[in-house]
Amino acid sequence: MIPTLRITLSLCSFLLLLISSSTAKTSSFRPKAIVLPVTKDISTSTPQYVTQIKQRTPLVTVNLTVDLGGGYVWVNCEHGYVSSTSKAVACGSAQCKLFGSSSCSSDKVCGGFPSNTVTGVSTSGDVRSDVVSVQSTNGNYSGRAVTVPKFLFICGSDVVQKGLPKGVSGIAGFGRTKVSLPFQFSSAFHFTRKFAICLSSGTIDSRGVIIIGDAPYNFGYLNSDLSKALNFTPLIKNPVSTAPISSLGEPSFEYFIGVKSINISDKEVPLNKTLLSINKNNGVGGTKISTVNPYGILETSIYKALSKAFVSAVGVQTISPVSPFGTCFASHDIGFTPMGPGVPDIKLVLENGAVWDIIGANSMVSLNNSDVLCLGFVDGGSNPKTSQVGFYHKTGNQPTTSITIGALQLENNLIQVDLKTSRLGFRSIFLDHSNCANFNFTSSV
Ligand SMILES: *[C@@H]1O[C@H](CO)[C@@H](O)[C@H](O)[C@H]1NC(C)=O
Ligand SMILES: *[C@@H]1O[C@H](CO)[C@@H](O)[C@H](O)[C@H]1NC(C)=O
Ligand SMILES: *[C@@H]1O[C@H](CO)[C@@H](O)[C@H](O)[C@H]1NC(C)=O
Ligand SMILES: *[C@@H]1O[C@H](CO)[C@@H](O)[C@H](O)[C@H]1NC(C)=O
Ligand SMILES: *[C@@H]1O[C@H](CO)[C@@H](O)[C@H](O)[C@H]1NC(C)=O
Ligand SMILES: *[C@@H]1O[C@H](CO)[C@@H](O)[C@H](O)[C@H]1NC(C)=O
Repeated sequence: MIPTLRITLSLCSFLLLLISSSTAKTSSFRPKAIVLPVTKDISTSTPQYVTQIKQRTPLVTVNLTVDLGGGYVWVNCEHGYVSSTSKAVACGSAQCKLFGSSSCSSDKVCGGFPSNTVTGVSTSGDVRSDVVSVQSTNGNYSGRAVTVPKFLFICGSDVVQKGLPKGVSGIAGFGRTKVSLPFQFSSAFHFTRKFAICLSSGTIDSRGVIIIGDAPYNFGYLNSDLSKALNFTPLIKNPVSTAPISSLGEPSFEYFIGVKSINISDKEVPLNKTLLSINKNNGVGGTKISTVNPYGILETSIYKALSKAFVSAVGVQTISPVSPFGTCFASHDIGFTPMGPGVPDIKLVLENGAVWDIIGANSMVSLNNSDVLCLGFVDGGSNPKTSQVGFYHKTGNQPTTSITIGALQLENNLIQVDLKTSRLGFRSIFLDHSNCANFNFTSSV
């Protein structure tokens, strides 16, 4: 008697489950936010940060290098793209117009220009749409999968894929456009235009996290919502494109902030302040944030001044530098602290008075079997390259930015882009004795 009853009950709950999961699929469930993993890949000459989505019908996992300032998503369609739901976007359509620099092929398909922002190679390809599936989140852990039926992307090819890690077949742009990865999800699920990214410094079994939409940010044992603990600074627009390929008059899709001065050990580094603001006519100057540049990049005069001030504040002899770096020390001369190599913080003093503290873990690169520690910024040269070739300006001709905050500087920092309030939120969670690999990816369903 009792066993039969139990079977009936579990059959009932099984049926209920079936009903609830099938209604969820047909639209009633609206997520508050979605979550993506991001893994540091060191198989290529410099690290890349790779995220994963599911795409196509049937769904397959697609790995994409994260480009914080990229305008769109491109995926290699040249080999092995099989899907019953992939559709070409018609040229002249509203969707096509979202890809600013678009063209029209002979068969009336919208064309875009996929760029490999790691290698600088660009090509052209059809704009298409297909199903994309990702995990939702409540900010504490992963929830059920949610689907966008017509996610827009550009078809890349083997040529433009070259230089990405093995198994990575495209680039996901997170820049200021309606068709970048986060903002396609924002419009599909009516999120505010907001996302957060937390890059992990570890590689194996150490995934960082991207959260798109409105959710608390809970990182494991910290047990507190880090969205409440961010520092903020205004996001600045650069009116001139900084992409490898763009149409004339197109603004930059990258995120710029206002660095007003740089302090090391309570002393201001002497800099040419003109370089710190963006020249509105040619887009030269200013400070941007990048995930495709593994290390920071500084205009020559800024590099020299920073290096000089840093070496003097560290107070030990430099050794012959290891390329591409120009300022290196013997590791045994530098102590270690829980915050990384024991060097003075580099303080970026921002427009609104907020301070971005770059601690040893984010300023130094360990090389040569850890014998050598180098300042993790490279000298980016001094000649602004702004000449435009024809309608499109090509790699090498885009305006130069004076300060690029690279991926090394972002690791274990929670970075929030909020286009509604036009602010960048930031916080070193290393200082909270946590790290970006502490998000709980265990799904609750
Ligand atoms: C994507 O990356 C994962 C983990 O890095 C790997 O196991 C998988 O094979 C990759 N996917 C493809 C399609 O290569
Ligand atoms: C998420 O975690 C926080 C902190 O542990 C807790 O206060 C909150 O109730 C949790 N929310 C959900 C939806 O699980
Ligand atoms: C930067 O250094 C200058 C000069 O010593 C000092 O007046 C200023 O308060 C410092 N700013 C910060 C944020 O440390
Ligand atoms: C500062 O930089 C600007 C822009 O590159 C340049 O025109 C100016 O000559 C520089 N000033 C000094 C004192 O070097
Ligand atoms: C790096 O290591 C090699 C041998 O392991 C050594 O010969 C070389 O001098 C080292 N370079 C630096 C800059 O210390
Ligand atoms: C991770 O989340 C799952 C629910 O999805 C929960 O059961 C598990 O206890 C969480 N793990 C930790 C370490 O908090």
